[in-house]
Amino acid sequence: MAFIRQAPFLRCLPLVLLCILTPTLIQTIHQDAMLTSSMKCHYDAEQKEADCSDRGLDSIPQNLPDDIEELDLKFNKITFILSSSFMRYPLIQVLDFSSNDIRMIESASFYPLKELNRLDLPFNHNLVFPATDLFRWSRNLSILKLYGSNLKLLPNDTLKWSPSVESIYLRFNKLTFVNMSLCGRAKKISLAYNKIEHLTAESFIIGCQSDYIDLTGNPIKSVDPNVIASLRVRSLVLGEYPLTLEVLKDTFIGICRSEIVELTINGANFTVLPRDFFSPLRNCSPPVLKFTGNNLQSLSQNVFSNLTRLVELDLSHNEIQALSPYVFSNLTRLVELDLSFNEIQSLSPYVFSNLTRLVELDLSQNKIITVEPVFYQGMRGLKVLNLNFNQIKYINPNTDEWTLDLNELYLRSNSLTEISEFAFFGLRNLTLLDLSFNKDLIVLNITSSSKLTGIQTIALNFCNFCDMDIFQPVAPNLTTLFMNNMIAEMIMMAPGITFEDSQGLENLEIRNSGLSNFNIWDEILNTSLFDGLSNLITLDLSQNYFDFYFPDDFPARIFKQLSALQNLSLEACHISCLHPLAFTGLESLRVLNLSGNVIQQLNFDIFKMLDQVTIIDLHDNLLAYLDEQLFSNNPRLTTLLLSNNKLTLLNQKTFEPIESSLLSFDLSLNPIDCNCDLRWFRDWMSGHIDVIDKNRTICSSASLQPLREKPLLDFDPNKLCGLNIGLVVMTPLAGIFLGVIVAIFYHNRLQLKYKLFLLKLMVIGYKEMRDARDHNDYEFDLNIIFYEDDEEWVRQQLQPALEERLPQFQRNVFGDQDLILGMHYLDAVDYVVSHSYKTLILLSRAAVHDRWFMLKLRTAMDHVSDTQTEFVVVVFLEDFPDEDIPFLARLYLSDGRPYQHWTEDVGGHVFFWNALVKNLTINLRTNDFIPNE
Ligand SMILES: *[C@@H]1O[C@H](CO)[C@@H](O)[C@H](O)[C@H]1NC(C)=O
Ligand SMILES: *[C@@H]1O[C@H](CO)[C@@H](O)[C@H](O)[C@H]1NC(C)=O
Ligand SMILES: *[C@@H]1O[C@H](CO)[C@@H](O)[C@H](O)[C@H]1NC(C)=O
Ligand SMILES: *[C@@H]1O[C@H](CO)[C@@H](O)[C@H](O)[C@H]1NC(C)=O
Ligand SMILES: *[C@@H]1O[C@H](CO)[C@@H](O)[C@H](O)[C@H]1NC(C)=O
Ligand SMILES: *[C@@H]1O[C@H](CO)[C@@H](O)[C@H](O)[C@H]1NC(C)=O
Repeated sequence: MAFIRQAPFLRCLPLVLLCILTPTLIQTIHQDAMLTSSMKCHYDAEQKEADCSDRGLDSIPQNLPDDIEELDLKFNKITFILSSSFMRYPLIQVLDFSSNDIRMIESASFYPLKELNRLDLPFNHNLVFPATDLFRWSRNLSILKLYGSNLKLLPNDTLKWSPSVESIYLRFNKLTFVNMSLCGRAKKISLAYNKIEHLTAESFIIGCQSDYIDLTGNPIKSVDPNVIASLRVRSLVLGEYPLTLEVLKDTFIGICRSEIVELTINGANFTVLPRDFFSPLRNCSPPVLKFTGNNLQSLSQNVFSNLTRLVELDLSHNEIQALSPYVFSNLTRLVELDLSFNEIQSLSPYVFSNLTRLVELDLSQNKIITVEPVFYQGMRGLKVLNLNFNQIKYINPNTDEWTLDLNELYLRSNSLTEISEFAFFGLRNLTLLDLSFNKDLIVLNITSSSKLTGIQTIALNFCNFCDMDIFQPVAPNLTTLFMNNMIAEMIMMAPGITFEDSQGLENLEIRNSGLSNFNIWDEILNTSLFDGLSNLITLDLSQNYFDFYFPDDFPARIFKQLSALQNLSLEACHISCLHPLAFTGLESLRVLNLSGNVIQQLNFDIFKMLDQVTIIDLHDNLLAYLDEQLFSNNPRLTTLLLSNNKLTLLNQKTFEPIESSLLSFDLSLNPIDCNCDLRWFRDWMSGHIDVIDKNRTICSSASLQPLREKPLLDFDPNKLCGLNIGLVVMTPLAGIFLGVIVAIFYHNRLQLKYKLFLLKLMVIGYKEMRDARDHNDYEFDLNIIFYEDDEEWVRQQLQPALEERLPQFQRNVFGDQDLILGMHYLDAVDYVVSHSYKTLILLSRAAVHDRWFMLKLRTAMDHVSDTQTEFVVVVFLEDFPDEDIPFLARLYLSDGRPYQHWTEDVGGHVFFWNALVKNLTINLRTNDFIPNE
């Protein structure tokens, strides 16, 4: 009652207060939430991704931007997902809850997520799925990851609403049955390592159209052939559990009536297969059978004899020691046979001879010692024979003729020592021969009698290969030869001989193979190893020791006949010096790699012939200087890599010819002397060029003080080198001309200048040149710039004189200590210069050698030219020789700027102070119509 009787205002007071407070309150709470969110989740606005992984969250954050499409919540402590959890985020497509502890999911949780495409819920060890239509509205669901979650029940028809699923991962759960009778397409279904025991109509119903169902690791005890027969799957995988013959028999019966085209039985532990093991598959076997990793030790003669439809048979990773002669005799349709990773030591003649359609035979990783053509007799279709990783010592010891149309022969990692010229006799269509990693191979004869007319690629990497004779393959169609990492102490290659009969070579790699100068250049005959290789496109000679025998000189003209060469690598070849004619003839070269050598200097002519070159890599050398002419004929150069050299100065002229072509440039890890001469470079860098490794492109300690050890990119020439711009743009001729004038002028000037100045004052008068400046318009009256050593003069001479003669000047800045605190130093200098009525610069010998002092001088001079006002007066505190006056100062003074000389002669002091007072009180415009002497 009392409440009602209150005055209306009072009654409304709480409401009013609430009205006033609520927005603030809400805002505060909201801000708090935002703050937490920004602390906790990382939001990528462009990708619309919120990364909330590993943030210790126990619920789904509700303060993220509502347009997120991807939400990563893995490694948190979330235990439940509610129907309200995703109301705010209807656009989510990808949702990751991996490694949380989700125990409860409300059935409508994902209803707002109409776009949900991927849901990750693996490693939620107590995961329970609600037994309803969780994905009722997720028509786009494509990837569902549920592995490792102890899931005991996958609700029936979970994929009913998602017509086209890419993958559903359910491995490592505890499912005992699966019912996905209502299912559209589910390409990949992984049910491996669950507890499914019976593939029967009660516990295994999969209606999905599928490419692949993986059931390995399930303790399958019984199979209903009808269930298998009704599967709409292309590939079925079983195993990783000792399956009984009964289980397999029923499986085969089912498969015989199914659409399955590929059956894999993996790790099911069958050491021996009964003779009639595959009989249920008689005339109905799937084309692809993979029976791998089953400890199979032998194959009975007829075990495959009824699998006449087989196209691909994989028996890899077993323990097969021998193949009985007729074991494959009925597999006439076989195209691929994989026997790798077995224990086969020898093959019997004709064992494969009925495999007339076989294209690829993989016998790698066995223990075969001898290879004879007769083993492969009749394999008319064979193109690829893989014998890598065996113990082969002998190839064709009886010198038989191969009657195969083989294209590729792999003999990597065997124990070959000698390969005679007839070893491959008859393999006229062989294009690839890989003999790498035959560490004991010492003789390889490929002669005209070998008739390897089709051979295109030979790989001899990691072979020992110290043939008594010189290696000289007779292979007219050889295009690619790999001889990397030869272990030979001395590689037997000789200029003019080695490639005499293989001049079609296009790619040649001889990396790290002990190649030295005498292998590539014959001094007496003046021939090069590469002579005649006019088709060669790529030549990689990196990591050889070209300076080992002739430490001073990398021979000239070795590449002179390589007119088609595009890529040349001489990386890490211990090259210290390149002959100016080293690259003669490389008219097509695009990429030149000289990195990792010890080159100190490059002759200005060295790249002259490379007018097509686009990339030059010189990183990791000892270059201290690049000649002005170096790139003068490389107009296509786009990439220049110079990192980790000893470059201090960069001459603009060196880079002028490539200025417009260059796209990326690496100068990092050089002791660059950053000063105003580098202004052009800094401007260039900020242009279209991509500067690689900017953060390691650092100014050396010899640089202008503020730049030392700082990234070159921080160098702002406009701040540090104001006046220089005029100098930089001067043409050299004008520069010389001006220099001469200045020199002549200056010679007489110091004596004449002041008198002339006074004379002008008297005779011409300055009325018309005076401006309307008043010192009261300025924040400071007088700004005195001096070098710290000259402070004594300032305190003892200048200050008393000013107090006496210019009492109206009260707001004076004496040097650095009066600069405005808290401002960046150069900004402060600039500020004072531009806010002072007059600036007095005290020059001394020490001063002009101080970089900081000179910077201040420049700042002042800049302002003079900017404002066209003569507010700077220069005082020479001592006489010093002309050449000691910095060029900039000379240039400045040559423009008719006021300056005075201090004299130790006491008699001259009065005159000095009078003149100074006049200079400091008169307002002059810089006036060009007054002749400069
Ligand atoms: C799910 O399927 C199984 C096996 O087919 C069946 O026994 C069970 O009754 C079904 N559950 C529901 C809720 O329909
Ligand atoms: C594989 O089978 C053999 C006998 O056939 C048995 O001794 C062995 O334990 C089995 N191995 C596994 C892993 O089941
Ligand atoms: C192949 O099939 C026939 C029946 O057509 C059968 O008699 C024979 O035992 C089978 N052979 C093998 C090795 O399974
Ligand atoms: C398969 O091989 C057996 C002998 O192992 C032979 O009797 C049979 O006729 C062959 N079957 C076919 C279809 O070639
Ligand atoms: C090849 O097949 C024929 C016909 O099936 C058979 O007679 C012959 O024994 C087989 N030869 C080999 C070496 O397997
Ligand atoms: C090599 O290939 C050609 C064309 O493919 C073929 O005509 C010829 O018979 C083959 N030679 C051998 C030895 O198989």
